[in-house]
Amino acid sequence: MARILTGIQSTNQPHLGNILGAIEPMVQLSNQLEHEAFAFIADLHSLTTVKEGGDRRHRVHQVAATWVACGFDYSKNRLYCQSDLPEVTELTWYLNCFAPFPMLANAHSFKDKSSRLADVNAGLFTYPVLMAADILGYDAHLVPVGKDQRQHLEMTRDLAGAFNHRYGDVFVVPEAFVQKDVEVIPGIDGQKMSKSYGNFIDVFLPEKSLRKVVMAIATDSTPLEDPKDAENCIVYQLFSRIVSADRALEMKQNLEAGGYGYGHAKQALFDALMERFAEARERYRHLMEHPEELEAILAEGASRARPILQQVLVRVRAKLGFGSLPA
Ligand code: AMP
Ligand code: TRP
Repeated sequence: MARILTGIQSTNQPHLGNILGAIEPMVQLSNQLEHEAFAFIADLHSLTTVKEGGDRRHRVHQVAATWVACGFDYSKNRLYCQSDLPEVTELTWYLNCFAPFPMLANAHSFKDKSSRLADVNAGLFTYPVLMAADILGYDAHLVPVGKDQRQHLEMTRDLAGAFNHRYGDVFVVPEAFVQKDVEVIPGIDGQKMSKSYGNFIDVFLPEKSLRKVVMAIATDSTPLEDPKDAENCIVYQLFSRIVSADRALEMKQNLEAGGYGYGHAKQALFDALMERFAEARERYRHLMEHPEELEAILAEGASRARPILQQVLVRVRAKLGFGSLPA
């Protein structure tokens, strides 16, 4: 059985783009018999940018609740919080001492963040090494990666390969699992939906607030009675990604025929979101109201993931000569 692993940072409540682009595809893969899936919440990574401690665990809960609400089967698979297994930081240190400085200095994401952010800390610099430990520590075979994470996975493979070359087969060298047809979901302003652009749709908002966000989607000023360009209409673009092809076609034809306004389209999108995520919203609400249930799920996930990480560490320590000599 191939072990497929992915992490999502707990910097924000996952939005519609994260759900359609990352969480739902992973849930589908994890339901296939030939896969065993590890999904974790990368809260240690979140410390590179989010410094306030007060609601760190709350953010972990939001991400965990999203996974469960979107149908991730945590009994068959593993759902855990990165920092609940602090052994990963030990592995990070070992890997740090094998990570060439230029490799990290050339990382696109580091270059991008260090040019944008005021707080350029060492954690941001060694971010890919912690990510490598996340992957190598659990003997993962496959890692679903979007474009932005591809280079990080290459670094993980390089680190594992170099270590194995020197010490023998210690790590499983993971493969990137490139998903086809994962389209970029637009935000309410038409740019890529993203936390940093503030243009996202949180499908778990209370009904009234969700409606407000949908009504705020940018549209042009074509009068109600005129034909509209459906393909360039953000409301249609979002609608078509969450409903059946037939229903999408119906909206397209309505828009193109004229006499159907953006207000109608927005109402249809709002109804479709409420319908598509009805069950998920209910599950999410329940879990967020019962954090003890989430903690139990995470604790169980961590206890079922820990033995793997510990075995990997036994292998690594032995090769590097750490640990006391046998009596
Ligand atoms: P981020 O929080 O932006 O790093 O995204 C986490 C995951 O969600 C990554 O796998 C992204 O590829 C995916 N994702 C983020 N934004 C979008 C979007 N607008 N459309 C599709 N997938 C997205
Ligand atoms: N860096 C990833 C992101 O920002 C999150 C992440 C951390 C991750 N560790 C990982 C993804 C291990 C896959 C595997 O999206």
